Amino acid sequence: AFTPRVFSGIQPSGGLTLGNYLGALKRFVDSQDRGIQSIYCMVDLHAITVWQDPEKLSRATRELCAGFIASGIDPARSILFNQSQVPEHAQMAWVFNCVARMGWMKRMTQFKDKAGKNAENASLGLFAYPALMAADILCYHATHVPVGEDQKQHLELTRDIATKFNHDYGVEFFPLTEPVIEGAATRVMSLRDGSKKMSKSDPSDMSRINMTDDADTIASKIRKARTDPDALPSEAKGLEDRPEARNLVNIYAALADMTVAQVLADVGGKQFSEFKPMLADLAVEKLSPISGEMARLMEQPDEIDAILRRGSDQARAIATPILEQTYDIMGI
Ligand code: ADP
Ligand code: NA
Repeated sequence: AFTPRVFSGIQPSGGLTLGNYLGALKRFVDSQDRGIQSIYCMVDLHAITVWQDPEKLSRATRELCAGFIASGIDPARSILFNQSQVPEHAQMAWVFNCVARMGWMKRMTQFKDKAGKNAENASLGLFAYPALMAADILCYHATHVPVGEDQKQHLELTRDIATKFNHDYGVEFFPLTEPVIEGAATRVMSLRDGSKKMSKSDPSDMSRINMTDDADTIASKIRKARTDPDALPSEAKGLEDRPEARNLVNIYAALADMTVAQVLADVGGKQFSEFKPMLADLAVEKLSPISGEMARLMEQPDEIDAILRRGSDQARAIATPILEQTYDIMGI
C-alpha cells in the first residue's frame, strides 16, 4: 500500500486564469488543509513544449508561485517548487518514453488540439508531454492528483505507464494514481465560446478572467460574456443545452462554495442582466484579495526564489531515491 500523497502542477505559460484557480488551485488548498502531504509544481518543462520567451517565462514562473501562495498554499506545509530544478522529472520522463507506446500517445486529444492542423511542425516534446506528466506524478509515488477535467486522459495514461512498468519488471513499484476531479468547476469554459475551455493560452483575453485582472476588467468581461436570452432555470436540468449559462452558474457555485442546485434555488427566474452583476461582485470579492497578495509577493522576487529553492530540495529528497530504485529495477 502506498502512503496517500498529492501531486499536481500548473504551467507557467501565461498568467493564471479563473479556470486554473477553480479547477486546480482552490482544490489544492483543500488537499493541503486535509493534512495530506501535498507537492505542487510550476511545470516549466511542460511550458517549453511550445515557444516561450525566456524573460516572460521566468517572470511567469515567479508569478505562478506567488499565485499558489496567495491562493492559500503554505510553503511550510506543502512542497512548492519548479520542475526544471528537480532533474529527476526529466530523467524519469525518458524512462517513461521507453515504456509508453506510440499508439497510446497518438490517442491523446490535447496533443491533437494543441498541435492543430500542422502536427508535423509540433515539437517532439509536445507529443511526449504526457510521459513527462507521468514522471512528475510517479517520481513521488503520488496516489492522488487534483486536476481539471481536461487532464483526465493524461491521468489514464499515467496509470497505463505504471501498470506496464510494474508488469514488465514483475514489481509493484508504481502506484495506480487516482485523478481527483470534483466540484462545480472541473471544466470552466471560455466566456466567448461555450464549447472551448477557459485557458491561459487562448489568444483572446476576453475569453478568460485572469487572476491579476482588476475589478473593472472582471466586471466588464462578465458583462460581455456570451449568454442566451432566457432567464435562469430553477433546476440544474434546465441548464442542459445551455453551455454558456451553465458555465456562469458553475463559476458562481464554485466561487461561493455552493452546489449548482443551491445557486439555482436562489437565482432561478432571474435574467442575466441581474445575475451577471451578482457574479461579478462575487468574483471580485474572492479574487481581489488574491491578486493583491500576488502583487505584494512579486515585489519580493528573492523571497519567491528562496521558497522555490527550498521546495526543490524537499522534492529531490523524495524523487532521488525513487529514481534510483527505478534504475535498479531496470538494471541501469
Ligand atoms: P492552461 O490550460 O490554463 O494552460 P494548465 O495546463 O497549466 O492550464 O493546467 C493547470 C491546471 O488547471 C490543471 O489541473 C488543469 O486541469 C486545470 N485547468 C486548466 N484550465 C481549466 C479550466 N478551464 N477549468 C478547470 N480546470 C482547468
Ligand atoms: Na492545459
